Parts: sequence; C-alpha cells; structure tokens
Amino acid sequence: MCGIIGMIGANSVVPYILEGLRRLEYRGYDSAGISTLVKGVVNRRRAEGKLAKLEKKLKDKPLTGNIGIGHTRWATHGAPNLINAHPHVSGPVSVVHNGIIENHKKLRTDLVASGFVMETDTDTEVVAHLVKYYHDQGLSPEEIMRSIIERLNGAYALVIMIADYPGTLMAARKSSPLAIGYGNEAMFIGSDALALAPMTRRISYLEDGDWAIVGQDYSNIYNAENKQVERPINLTEVSGALIGKGKYRHFMDKEIHEQPEVIGYTLSAFYDPNSGRMKMPELPFDPTLLPKLTIIAAGTSYYAGMVAKYWLEGLARLPVEVDIASEFRYRNSVLPKGGAALFISQSGESLDTLMALRHAREVEQHIISLVNVSESTIARESDIVLKTLAGPEISVASTKAFTTQLVVLLSLAVDWAHKRNFLNKKVSATIMTELSRLPITMAEVLADQGRWKACAHELALAKDVIYLGRGLNFPIALEGALKLKELSYIHAEGYAAGEMKHGPIALLEEGMPVVMVAPYDEWFEKTASNLKEALARGARVILLSDKEGIKRLDDEPAWVFEMPKVHPLIAPILYSLPVQLIAYHTANEKGTDVDQPRNLAKSVTVE
Ligand code: G6P
Repeated sequence: MCGIIGMIGANSVVPYILEGLRRLEYRGYDSAGISTLVKGVVNRRRAEGKLAKLEKKLKDKPLTGNIGIGHTRWATHGAPNLINAHPHVSGPVSVVHNGIIENHKKLRTDLVASGFVMETDTDTEVVAHLVKYYHDQGLSPEEIMRSIIERLNGAYALVIMIADYPGTLMAARKSSPLAIGYGNEAMFIGSDALALAPMTRRISYLEDGDWAIVGQDYSNIYNAENKQVERPINLTEVSGALIGKGKYRHFMDKEIHEQPEVIGYTLSAFYDPNSGRMKMPELPFDPTLLPKLTIIAAGTSYYAGMVAKYWLEGLARLPVEVDIASEFRYRNSVLPKGGAALFISQSGESLDTLMALRHAREVEQHIISLVNVSESTIARESDIVLKTLAGPEISVASTKAFTTQLVVLLSLAVDWAHKRNFLNKKVSATIMTELSRLPITMAEVLADQGRWKACAHELALAKDVIYLGRGLNFPIALEGALKLKELSYIHAEGYAAGEMKHGPIALLEEGMPVVMVAPYDEWFEKTASNLKEALARGARVILLSDKEGIKRLDDEPAWVFEMPKVHPLIAPILYSLPVQLIAYHTANEKGTDVDQPRNLAKSVTVE
C-alpha cells in the first residue's frame, strides 16, 4: 500500500517526482525510491524510512533523466528495508506498485522455474520479472500489458518503465486508484490528483481495469476488454500549493486548532443560520420511506459512524447498522430492498471502504458517501456525496476530518428527523443554533493548554490507559483510546462505561489512569457510579465533564477538566477535542513522531 508516480518530459523529472512523492507520503513512509533512464540505462536510488532520507541520498548522488518513476512505501509483503524498497527492477524493467498481487507465490514459482532470481520478499518483484519475461519474447509494450494483466490477481496500480522504450511509460489499475496528468510537454501518472496538482491541473482518472501507454505528449488508454477508450480530462480543484505547518510544531497541532474554523465552513454548507433552513443535497430516495441505513467506515471514520447511529436512531427513528468496512464486505449482511448505505471516509480511498461500497452497490443499495477529498474514488462512485470542508488533513491521526464528519452527520440526522416527522421545527432549530455556536465554544477549549500538558506529563509514564464513555460519548472514548495508542504507543482501551464491570475492571490497580468522557446528560448518574467503582480500586481518574457534572460528584478524581456546557447531542463533537489534546501532548512528552506514527499510514489502500 503505497504512493506511486511516473513522469515523462523534456527536462529532468527528478524534482517533480520528489514533489509528487512528498504529497503521497500520507500513503506510507517505510521507504522511498526513484528510477530514471539515462542513455537507455536504468538508474535507481532508494532509501529505507522517510522520503527525507531519499532526498539526502539524492543530494549526495544526484539522479537525472527525463523519464522516471517513484514510490513511497507502506510495507505489506516483506520488511520495510532497503532491499524491499521500490522501484523493483529486472534487467531493463523498472516497476512501482500500489496494492497487493495476491497470486505472487504462484508467479514466483513459475518465474523461478523460468530462470529468474528473486531478490526481495515483496509481491511486486514478480511484476518486474513478468514484464521482462514478455519483453524478452519480443512483445510490444501494448502486448506486454495485455499479457501481464491476464496473469495478475489482486489489487494494483502500476507504473512500468522499460529501458528500451525511453519515450514510454506503461500503467495499469485494478482496485487501486491511478490518474493521468496532462502537462506542457510532459505527462504524469500518479496515485491521485494531490500528487500531480503542482505539475498540472488537467487530470484524467483511470477506471477500474484500465491500462495505458503514455508518451511525452499523449496517452493511449485501454479498458479491461483491451479496447481503446477515452477518459475525460477534468480540471482538478485540488490545490497545488504547498501545505505548511504555519506557526505550529506539527500538522496535528495545526489541524486541531483549525477545527473551529472548518466546522464553521462545513456547517454553512449544510445549514443557513439566517433562514434556519437545512441545505441538504437532493436525494434519489425518500428518507421517510427508507427501511434501513447501513453506515460503513474504517478507523476514526468508523467512530463517527457510531455516533451517527445514536443521532439517526434517537432523532430520526431510523434503523441504523454501523459496520467496520473490512468486516461488512464478507459478513453477508441483510440489506433491505430500497435501503441506503453511507460510507464515511476522510480520504475517500480506504480500500476496505471502497470494496464495501461496491458490494453495497451490487446488492442495490443507494450509495451515499461522506468524504473530505471530493475527487476521491469513493466520492466518484457514490450517488450522493456529502463533503466535509476540513481542507487537506496531513497528520496521519485524524482530527478535523472527524469533527467535521460529526457536524455533517448531526445535520443529516436533524434534517431526516424533521422530514420523518419525529422532530418539530423548534427542537431542530435549537439543535442547529447550538451547533452554530460550537466553533466559539471549541476555541475556548483550545485557548489554554497548560493543564492538558501537565496531565499528559503524568500520562506519558503510564503503561495502560482505559477510556470510558456512555451513550453518545462511548465512541469518543474509543476514539480517545485509538488516538493515544497510535500517537504515543501507550496501550489504551476504550469501553462503554457500563461494560467496565464485565472485564476491564480486572485491570484496575493503584494509579492506573482512567479517562472518563462524561458530560452531564441523562446517563451521567450511571457513569458517576462507574467512576466511583474505578476510584475505589485506586485508579487515577481523569474526568472530562461540565460544571453540572462536576457539581454532582462527591468524589475527587485526580484530574478534573471542566468543559463548557453544550447541548447533550453536541457533546461528542466538543469532547473530541480533549481526547485529541491528551493524545497529542502525551505523544510530545514521549517524543514520538506525532504526524507520522510508526507503522501507520493516512490512507490505507490495501485490504
Ligand atoms: C487510517 C488512518 C486513520 C483513518 C482511517 C480511515 O487508519 O490512519 O486516521 O481514520 O485510515 O481512513 P479514511 O480516509 O477512510 O477515513
């Protein structure tokens, strides 16, 4: 699972490929590499670890050439080391790949039997040898592509370069995305428009099964039936501007602080505070007749779906099922005729979510997506696209995309509740007015972070942390635990507060941190009992609540953070902030890589 790029132009392609790779690092940063052709010979530079290491190598030993391919890797098959770094070569052939070749073992055996020597543990190496095998038989680039595609199973986006064709790049996609960029005397191939945007805004997206032969001023595209086809060239809206950290130390810090602003933008796309009217897109179905909504997502986006279930069931009385994308697809779930499926994804590229979408389409569900990247594959394959206007989210851990997802989902729940006659105008208006005030309330929480830092100083010493929440705030407890483990590498578990007594309570011992996400709401008294149970066993409770909740406690947790009072339906959005801050500051205390934690990637494009 990786980011790939290729370029053919009049001048040296290396600076452009590097720029593209910088913008693809969100797909993985285990290693990076570039191959170019110089006087008909493959030249390759690779480095283990982040792109910066490759850049350093290139400074010491520069690379030229006006045709080249590049790769940034998230290891699936084979350790994240130099030998497994792409591009992989076989004689004159050089290949970069995003995806997984599922039949690589069989191909490996066949190729070894034909005399090829395997150098790496990757699934990709077989592609390089396979291309060489057909090239040695005298096949043309077109014939080679047709032949290898017949033999490859699994998911792939490929860019291939053969030294004997210094004016040609070959590309193919199946399940993994790939775009072609049309420049001035130059052509580009890349995993997405983001990678190509600094070079060109004229982008054409390959469809599933497509393959292409690309020269300096043309691209010949063929579909899965090997018929030449035209794919429209769009002007991408993705900005080519460099995204910087501004005054912040990390992208995550910047993105946490952007939340009041981007929540304001996002809300204004769905709600007009002056008229009090919702501005939801036209639907191809009637929400009053909808039998069931299935929400599918991965990671943090899945937790947004969990919160949405409470809103949609509670307000709109709509049966909702929420599923993890990688589970849904193979679960053979029962989806009613006329039902709808909502896919939540910041990137719009998570492969599990995309595959679940395709399955839902096969079983005739209406397809709605909620994405942050509006030109993403998931958006392009949906009937209705709801957009979060969070702007580019660079830090691997999602923050502003999550809270803007929640804003859209609550707006949708209010809109459907009203349409389905379960919410009158007055109550809808109260919720939406309170939601409009959220940016100001969030800014208050973000204003002073001294105590969060002090608490993080203590948490950084913990080995295990438990997060508890109830009702709407249960998913926020899950999100808090996820954030802490991915950023600080401290083991953390999120639990429904009432479930603590059924297992996690056995873990409690003197000094163990327990974070309680507990605004004062209809469930507060019950959560307060769970808090007592934790305190009685010596836990160091970190309580996130409001004035009313804190007043009602007769216990003294180790840390009490008083949050501003908000409508209980809006609390999960506001309480996302403290769990982000706790994880962020704890990671800083531990000195981990906040924006690019080990082993993770921003967008996971393998199943
Ligand atoms: C990865 C990221 C998470 C993200 C998840 C789902 O695991 O590290 O931050 O929540 O993918 O990504 P998506 O783009 O589909 O929301």
